Amino acid sequence: MPILVTPLNLIKMAKILVIKKKINSFKKEIEVGGDKSLSIRWVLLASQAIGKSKAYNLLMSEDVIAALEAIKKLGIKVLIKKKYCEILGKGLNNFTYKNGLVIDAKNSGTLGRLILGLLIKSTKKIKLIGDKSLSKRDFSRVTEPLEKVGAKFQYKVKNKLPLSIIGSNNSKGIYYVENNGSAQCKSSVMLAALNSSGTTYIKAKKSRNHTELLFKYLKVPIKIKRTKKYDFINIIKPKKINAFNYNIPGDISSSAFFMVLTMLSENSKLLIKNININPSRIGVITILKKMGAKILLKNKRNYKGEKISDILIRSSKNLKGIYCPSELNSSAIDEFLIIFIAAAKAKGISYFKDISELNQKESPRLNLGSKILNMMGVKTELTESSIKIYGQPNLKITKKIVIKNYLKDHRIFMMSTIAALTCGGIWKIHDKDSINTSFPSFLKLIKNINSKSL
Ligand code: S3P
Repeated sequence: MPILVTPLNLIKMAKILVIKKKINSFKKEIEVGGDKSLSIRWVLLASQAIGKSKAYNLLMSEDVIAALEAIKKLGIKVLIKKKYCEILGKGLNNFTYKNGLVIDAKNSGTLGRLILGLLIKSTKKIKLIGDKSLSKRDFSRVTEPLEKVGAKFQYKVKNKLPLSIIGSNNSKGIYYVENNGSAQCKSSVMLAALNSSGTTYIKAKKSRNHTELLFKYLKVPIKIKRTKKYDFINIIKPKKINAFNYNIPGDISSSAFFMVLTMLSENSKLLIKNININPSRIGVITILKKMGAKILLKNKRNYKGEKISDILIRSSKNLKGIYCPSELNSSAIDEFLIIFIAAAKAKGISYFKDISELNQKESPRLNLGSKILNMMGVKTELTESSIKIYGQPNLKITKKIVIKNYLKDHRIFMMSTIAALTCGGIWKIHDKDSINTSFPSFLKLIKNINSKSL
């Protein structure tokens, strides 16, 4: 009987990516989209600046668009042009909106947590909602410190979205100890400091420092003392922030998928141009290099406090397992899933410890990552906070693998795609549109690298 193709199952079909063969060797040059963390921070800070700020290469992914929609709802004008995005900021604490406003952070933990910091003085009630994945994540990690600053929060289900925030006219700087190594929590309190009287003191376990670098660039009074494990940050409320233009460099988290794709493909070479190589983000390069990857940073330069370079990667035949030092965890936090695929093809056992935070992400990534490796025929030993991966340099998958029900976690989708293209097998990967969260051009770039690969 012929299959009836109705518009409905057409949509369904289009949502599944089917991969039946490995990628052929390639030698190419690519650019990935703008850095997601910097894109969201630019949007939020431009909303607090006075006047017209412009961003070039702003990542136009769902998380960043949700940030633009959020500030628009708060009365800020946004113009999206072909080559840049413009925000007409009204200065600190100058949002205008009606009581009961609803802000949808969609899938974005960064947006959901950071924007609460900016709402610390917004005394009309605002409801924050998110998608299914974000609604499973813990918000007490930001609402607890922000309550001390002065805001009030109401939850329907304890510590989960949706929540309501009622800001305070009397927000005060606090002493806050951030112990998860979470840049989102640290940044939320830092943004609250922009609108709080007195000094905000933060003792934060190491995490990405884009907010600190932007504050310095914007001349917000900030002092930072670094020790091996913690950063001590003092912030005094600034009088104002001036509008600022920013050329967003490429995202290392997106690049990581292409690094591993190249390493695990034969006779291949890839140049990824213009990537943010902030030291607090390059754990993935350190880890892959320790495993034997051939990665070169070329054309290094500085940009408004950030570091940028091109990244050259070549195939690596003799990868070896790694005992990963946990000091590298925070600087590779979003890249572990793809590092696991490199470990699956490395000689020997790899061990990653103290990574329970991975289960707090868009999906329980430590558990799901391990499950996918097992489906590939790779042995793992999993605990709540660690994983041992028994590498197989000659791993060749011949069976069918179906990836679904993973809370549409963009990085689970991309990890699976790279595994399929480098290890073989017949893969059906559901929820193709999940890439729109962070890396809408992911599949297009794979096709550019090798038009017959997908
Ligand atoms: C981010 C911080 C990290 C990271 C996330 C982006 C940010 O989360 O996983 O993708 O932009 O501040 P945590 O702060 O929860 O570690």
